[in-house]
Amino acid sequence: MVEFDFDNAPEAGLKGSLRKDFFWGYATAAPQIEGAWNVDGKGPSTWDVLAHTPGRVIDASTADDACRSYDFFREDVPLMKSYGVNAYRFSLSWSRIIPLGGKEDPVNEAGIKFYSDLIDELLEANITPFVTLFHWDVPQALEERYKSMLDPEQYVPDFVRYARMCFGRFGDRVKHWITYNEPGVYALAGYAGGAHAPNRSSDREKYEEGDTSTEPWIVGHTQLLSHAQVYHLYKADFAPTQHGTIGITLSGNWSEPYDASSPADQRAATRALEFEIAWFADPVHGTGDYPDAMRAQLGTRLPAFTAAEKKLVRGSSDFYGMNTYTAFFVRDKVPPGQPVPPEDHKGNLAWFDVNSVGVSRGAESDTEWLRTSPWGFAKLLRWVWDRYRVPIYVTENGTTARGEHVSAPPGGDVLNDVHRIEFFRAYVGEVAKAVQQGIDIRSYFGWTFLDNWEWAKGYTDRFGVTWVDFESEDKTRYPKRSAAFNREFFEHLIAH
Ligand code: GAL
Repeated sequence: MVEFDFDNAPEAGLKGSLRKDFFWGYATAAPQIEGAWNVDGKGPSTWDVLAHTPGRVIDASTADDACRSYDFFREDVPLMKSYGVNAYRFSLSWSRIIPLGGKEDPVNEAGIKFYSDLIDELLEANITPFVTLFHWDVPQALEERYKSMLDPEQYVPDFVRYARMCFGRFGDRVKHWITYNEPGVYALAGYAGGAHAPNRSSDREKYEEGDTSTEPWIVGHTQLLSHAQVYHLYKADFAPTQHGTIGITLSGNWSEPYDASSPADQRAATRALEFEIAWFADPVHGTGDYPDAMRAQLGTRLPAFTAAEKKLVRGSSDFYGMNTYTAFFVRDKVPPGQPVPPEDHKGNLAWFDVNSVGVSRGAESDTEWLRTSPWGFAKLLRWVWDRYRVPIYVTENGTTARGEHVSAPPGGDVLNDVHRIEFFRAYVGEVAKAVQQGIDIRSYFGWTFLDNWEWAKGYTDRFGVTWVDFESEDKTRYPKRSAAFNREFFEHLIAH
């Protein structure tokens, strides 16, 4: 059934603007959807431990069952197919594959079989798998053994062995690899703010261990080095026969000066983009080193690359993997000339929803930080393209919407998620416009396929194009109207 008439809409001129082989679909992450946290040999991850520690998750929920995707993937793939997608981005749980995580530790064949079956199911449905090796769930054993990423000497070889295992077992069928999902959010939320696993921070009222002034920068560095090793390993040992691509996915929202006419606010906005995005993107896609603004503020607390490491890291991604959601107005927090506290990890910023002349960053969602700001997305695509000139894969983008916290069956207008439709209409429209302006964009993955376990927010953030009844035994799925909207919009946009 065709519901949206794009030929007679403002989007008429965008028809066929996306390349024939454009990948579109939805993204998910293992800890957020799979459930089956301790079955068939899976080892615990740091997120399992967090979920079972009182006070760590807003609604005191766990991801023990989540969406039960481990049990229902054979139903989920056809559902996804009915949404019209041609690709699906999901992550592998390291501790399902190697329960203790380490390079000498045994492999769990049941875990391998689960992912292998999922991949086969997708391929049979003509859905291209995009596989993320790491979406935040470190095997707990490595956390206990040597504090995982805080000890790069021990961590890097363990991650490399895990990656090798995945390429060896799935690479005959998987041609699109992502090493890390959002190394920046992983480092900051887990080691600066502390709300994410492994709950480390200088905030002693809430967290027992950690040092916000140093650990996030070490953890970022460890991710870059291990990513780069895995990239080169893939290129040397697997790409010649498997012919796949591999890269890293970075988080990044747009930052706009609070007062567009103020040079100080303009500098603050650039610094925001550098702390959030160029932290990883400059070493990988640009200069090969951290941005000057970070070095200036962080000094030697920011690790340094050796010449050999720079060489290894620079150019170590076949594409720019982009996760993005919103935009902010920013200005300096601490005035010039005064010392920035060592715990500051965002580049000395203050954030605003409304700028100096009263313009709002966009419509509110059900999530405080997230507003519909397609204007910022357009600027971000341009900024990334101009600075790095590599093909862009949008690997996550989406929103929550108010009024979806109801009991099943969801009645009234709950499934008619107009707010989410408007979000996708505007953001996906910007992708098409950017492509028409010559920016090379090759994929778009909406976040997300199913309402799921949103980390420390538990089940309080519903990001899915499918409403999930978390009270029911089988986590019943109800398609929202945004799923139909996207199917028709991409049908209109992708060249035939
Ligand atoms: C991203 C993350 C996803 C999901 C999303 C929505 O940062 O990669 O796993 O949580 O945000 O908040």
